Amino acid sequence: MSEPADQRLSASSVETPFADALLATSAAIRASFHALPISRRSSIRTSALAASFDALFGSGLYTETTITAPPLDTFFFPHRSLARAEELAARAFGATGTLFVTVGTTASNQIALEALVTKPDVRVLADKGTHQSIHFALSDKHAAVDYIEPRVFCEDSERAALTLSDILDHAAAAERAGAPYDLLVLNGQSYDGVVYDIPAILTALAEASPSLTNILIDEAWGAWSYFHESTRIRTALHARNTTPLHARFNIVATQSAHKSLSALRQASLIHYSGDPALGERLRLARYRHHTTSPNYQILASLDLARAQMELEGRELVERSLRLARLVADTIAADPALSAFTVNDAAVPEALAGHVRIDPTKLSLKVSGLSIGAPELRELLHSQHALYVNRCTRTSLLLNFHIGVLEDDALALLDALRAIQQRLLSPPAERRISTSFIIPYPPGVPIIVPGEEIGKDTLRRIEAVQSAGARIYTIENRPR
Ligand SMILES: Cc1ncc(COP(=O)(O)O)c(C=O)c1O
Repeated sequence: MSEPADQRLSASSVETPFADALLATSAAIRASFHALPISRRSSIRTSALAASFDALFGSGLYTETTITAPPLDTFFFPHRSLARAEELAARAFGATGTLFVTVGTTASNQIALEALVTKPDVRVLADKGTHQSIHFALSDKHAAVDYIEPRVFCEDSERAALTLSDILDHAAAAERAGAPYDLLVLNGQSYDGVVYDIPAILTALAEASPSLTNILIDEAWGAWSYFHESTRIRTALHARNTTPLHARFNIVATQSAHKSLSALRQASLIHYSGDPALGERLRLARYRHHTTSPNYQILASLDLARAQMELEGRELVERSLRLARLVADTIAADPALSAFTVNDAAVPEALAGHVRIDPTKLSLKVSGLSIGAPELRELLHSQHALYVNRCTRTSLLLNFHIGVLEDDALALLDALRAIQQRLLSPPAERRISTSFIIPYPPGVPIIVPGEEIGKDTLRRIEAVQSAGARIYTIENRPR
């Protein structure tokens, strides 16, 4: 069994075998008579589009390759540099074994379920809040699935979670009926910041359903959390390393390394622990489902991202935690940010034993402005170059991942202050309009001549502008 991640910092933590092999291989080759014309920029050297290729892909074009000879490796059944890189990743995350995937966790979930659902009518207990890839794969495998519906516990953030009793009652009832579940599937960490305490859930499950052994935890958003002691304790693989009780579970955890580590898009990890035969089934399942043209740069980025987290991960996560706290505390204290609140980071009592809010994900409620959260999101993007993805009717989700820097957090606060000041500050004096003020589209005046330009008028102008309309000011014709 591997040691927990925090005891493992050694000289080998800076080993990056696959990244090194890729660099060495591409430096040693003059030409390839196989495929991939773009490799070494060969096919674009004299192209009119060379500058665009270079601007987008830079030196990456030199290292992309299809070579599988030493020191590189074969992808599906590796035994050289890739095997070593996967072994180092398994150690870093505390898994029995790890598989690299270059086509996203969408595929990793299919691969995991191919390995775990080995015959039709396998009985599965599944969180309905999981990613579509899980629903599709279970349906394709003709599994007998019982879904549990997450309950919304915060209307503003729309955060939702399964209650522990929902999970345990289903599992215990199936056991009593003599038809226990073969597999439990949970979304371990949501993008909204809902985190299950997987060791706590498995401890309770071991008692409620002694026959249940297979567990799939989608940790698409959670690879980072293995590298800080305050967050690692709730992860899927930590469960395996804590109590002997968990040793009886076969656990598979899938992670989009690209979502939370310094890895290229689509870089994904499948970790497993438990029965050694599970590792073999996962490799065969990857063989069936993965493209036969894995992206070598994505593989190298997985190797480097793991090494970076072993070397610097704790500090990076510490910075994320600090910046999220800084933003939350400033919003709570600064009157220039009184239009915003951070949605409660606590969970209701009924969830407190097995659910936490991810401290790196703030849900920001917009309540004191004339515009709502969707318009604020647009303003932040179009006028302040700050991008936020998740948006509910009232709130924005701010994800303080390891690529968010102190300057970014301060720029966000400045932008929010500026927006609040513009949208709340009263006009200096009472002004009567002498013009029509008409946004187009739709071409309906906000103000006609003779009307007062009040605070609400300014807010409405701001809102329609941010929605993409142009404002036309048309003087009243003299009589
Ligand atoms: C919970 C969850 N699982 C899986 C995926 C799919 O991951 P990928 O984008 O790496 O294919 C996502 C994507 O957002 C997700 O949120």
